[in-house]
Amino acid sequence: MSQTFEPQILNHPLIQHKISLMRKKETGSKDFRELASEVATLMCYEATRDLPLKEVTVETPICRCKTKMIAGRKLAIVPILRAGLGMVDGMLTLIPAAKVGHIGLYRDEETAKPIEYFCKLPCDISEREVIVVDPMLATGGSAIDAVSMIKKHGAANIKFMCIIAAPEGLAAFGKVHPDVKVYVGVLDEKLNDHNYIVPGLGDAGDRIFGTK
Ligand code: PRP
Ligand code: URA
Repeated sequence: MSQTFEPQILNHPLIQHKISLMRKKETGSKDFRELASEVATLMCYEATRDLPLKEVTVETPICRCKTKMIAGRKLAIVPILRAGLGMVDGMLTLIPAAKVGHIGLYRDEETAKPIEYFCKLPCDISEREVIVVDPMLATGGSAIDAVSMIKKHGAANIKFMCIIAAPEGLAAFGKVHPDVKVYVGVLDEKLNDHNYIVPGLGDAGDRIFGTK
């Protein structure tokens, strides 16, 4: 049975406001990092909306009551290096017990194809719900390869979260991984001739780490 790929474009006012500040070319690395982290926290709130709950009994200062808590689902966050690192602390603010794996990929400057240089995932990744994070989904190549690598390690329950996506990247990702739920802060217009997102925010890794 074919799956419908329906990325969630969050478009929340706070997310849009913070992304607009990230886009400004005069926003420096310190502010850019803080904003990326804050956007990740806001997006994490949405991406964890379907976590299962269990009923527990607690004693309040007033009485005993039945109430709900997360049903102990094991989570992993996997940033795509480098720029994905800028979203990890914001995610851990809401899900501090999550384990963190790392996938290193960079886009070849000529071909824009991703080149893998690192992969270290929690040993029980196949039992975890995995949230892959990267600020940018441009051609989609990096996210597609990262998710394929995680699937090869046995994980079946995977989400992908990005701050800005291009329509071309979303379409490419949905063709290869229609089973993966995708959360996007804002959807931009297109890619330019160098496969950068327009209007985008430039090179996310360089802006987070102050390189270039
Ligand atoms: C950026 C970004 C994504 C990728 C998106 O990383 O963080 O990983 O490009 O482009 P794609 O959808 O066309 O694959 P980059 O390759 O610049 O590496 P960096 O994070 O180390 O700077
Ligand atoms: N990677 C980035 O960091 N920015 C883009 O616009 C495209 C890929």
